Amino acid sequence: MTELKLSEHARHEIDAWLKKYPADQRQSAVLAALREVQHENNGFLTVPLMDAVADYLGMARIAVYEVASFYSMLETKPVGRHSISVCTNISCMLCGSDDIVAYIEKKLGIKTGETTKDGRIYLKREEECLAACCGGPMMMVDHVYHEHLTPEKIDRILDGLK
Ligand code: FES
Repeated sequence: MTELKLSEHARHEIDAWLKKYPADQRQSAVLAALREVQHENNGFLTVPLMDAVADYLGMARIAVYEVASFYSMLETKPVGRHSISVCTNISCMLCGSDDIVAYIEKKLGIKTGETTKDGRIYLKREEECLAACCGGPMMMVDHVYHEHLTPEKIDRILDGLK
């Protein structure tokens, strides 16, 4: 048994998702559960948290680790308060996403995959097509899309993050 218990709020949220699935399919709520506990834990998952989710849903712990390491919206190490994902897939690349990444790295003084020293911004390692190709180059900041990026636009967005 895990020593860490999910918070009452997390259990309440997970229970709401469990109502949407057959009683013998509790694992269907794993993504929603991981999203919720990640949100409560400053944006990243720990092994004890993943274990607690596995135990709550009656899943094998390894199956929860597999889900957590597969989906790009789940983090398994500490990250900054704000998360930036620049799409570098083909449409955005043709619209200059490489220059956008280089501009952001220079502005923040970090490389892709790193967090600023003040813990303010995490620049995610990679993001595949975010289905906003006609708005390229684009990025997602804390789940909000920003399209047709320019250096001036990036300055405005990043400077506004506390
Ligand atoms: S290629 Fe960037 S959103 Fe589709």
